[in-house]
Amino acid sequence: MKKCVDIIVGARPNFMKVAALFAIAERFPLLELRLIHTGQHYDDAMSQVFFEDLGIPVPTVNLEVGSGSHGYQTAQIMMRYESWVTGNLPDACVVVGDVNSTLACTLVAVKLGILVAHIEAGLRSFDTTMPEEINRVLTDRVSDLLFVTEPSGVNNLLQEGRESSEIHLVGNVMIDTLKLNLPKARKKEQYKKYSLIKNNYALVTLHRPSNVDDELKLREIIKEIEWLSDLYPVLFTIHPRTKIRLASTNLLQKLEMNQNVHLCPPLSYIDTLSLMDSAKVVVTDSGGIQEETSALGVPCLTLRSNTERPITINEGTNTLIANNWNLFRERIKGLSEQCKKSENFIWDGKAGERILQKLESALCRSTHQ
Ligand code: UD1
Repeated sequence: MKKCVDIIVGARPNFMKVAALFAIAERFPLLELRLIHTGQHYDDAMSQVFFEDLGIPVPTVNLEVGSGSHGYQTAQIMMRYESWVTGNLPDACVVVGDVNSTLACTLVAVKLGILVAHIEAGLRSFDTTMPEEINRVLTDRVSDLLFVTEPSGVNNLLQEGRESSEIHLVGNVMIDTLKLNLPKARKKEQYKKYSLIKNNYALVTLHRPSNVDDELKLREIIKEIEWLSDLYPVLFTIHPRTKIRLASTNLLQKLEMNQNVHLCPPLSYIDTLSLMDSAKVVVTDSGGIQEETSALGVPCLTLRSNTERPITINEGTNTLIANNWNLFRERIKGLSEQCKKSENFIWDGKAGERILQKLESALCRSTHQ
């Protein structure tokens, strides 16, 4: 008999991760994957566009939770998922990443006795002011299967007392999706749409509360982006959270008047990948983009003081800037040196396959016990 597996998505970075599972689902006839969308992200540009781009199936249910404070959003997801799932119990619940939907559905599933698998387990920034760090630690603590993207994740989980038999270093589903879609993204040559020149522009994305919710910090960052725009044209894709913050100050207007800064709304996955791949440099505070640029060999300057993805620094192309604007300017000025792509990456495009194999054997084994 088929085993039913709920795959939880809620916010933008989740969609590209689960796409890697659906792309190969046919090879696992014993598993029936059921997509559950919590509705944490709901604008077309933050959600629907990824389904079209990545060929993800229509969700079995959309819980339509929407925005709210952390407590409200997490509680709403828990209430709505619990109420829905109680009449439709799966054999396993797969959660990805570190967003509020990840933790909320984990708590519901584990208390209903459903096996929980966490994809991207073990990542730690050790910065508990980040909501994502709380989500990661708590999700891992109660998950049954821990699927890890990089060796640091294995070490962190072992330090926290997890058994090595529960930890599986499988690679990175987000890079599975990247590898699958790169030819299509390259063909699109999105830089032409913005009259940019290949390998001669900076792509900027920002959305962390620690960068955009604090006005002084945001002003400092925008000042540096303006400095950068004198050297390279800047394409700045603006997350809804950032848009609200920029608009509530004079910063949005300032950027709009700058001829060297192109502002655009959040873009689709393929368009973002296309622009990232052709960029001279990417400036970001995203977790996933640190990994994607490392896999592409594009220099990435991360506007954070820590990263839960140290492999992107040790073996990839990432530099943490924190508040060190001298370092930022130094790295921008030194960009002509070719950025090296590490050959040691364990991100070979097969993480999804390893995950579904382990899941299938865990579920089928538990039937025979
Ligand atoms: C969430 C995740 C973060 C992830 C990010 C990617 C948590 C704790 N945070 O942060 O880890 O990196 O998604 O985008 O889960 N909004 C819209 N339309 C939408 C969604 C949001 O306008 O479709 C606006 C709302 O004003 C909302 C704000 O953006 O209040 C923030 O959205 P929210 O989902 O709370 O957090 P993100 O900052 O997107």
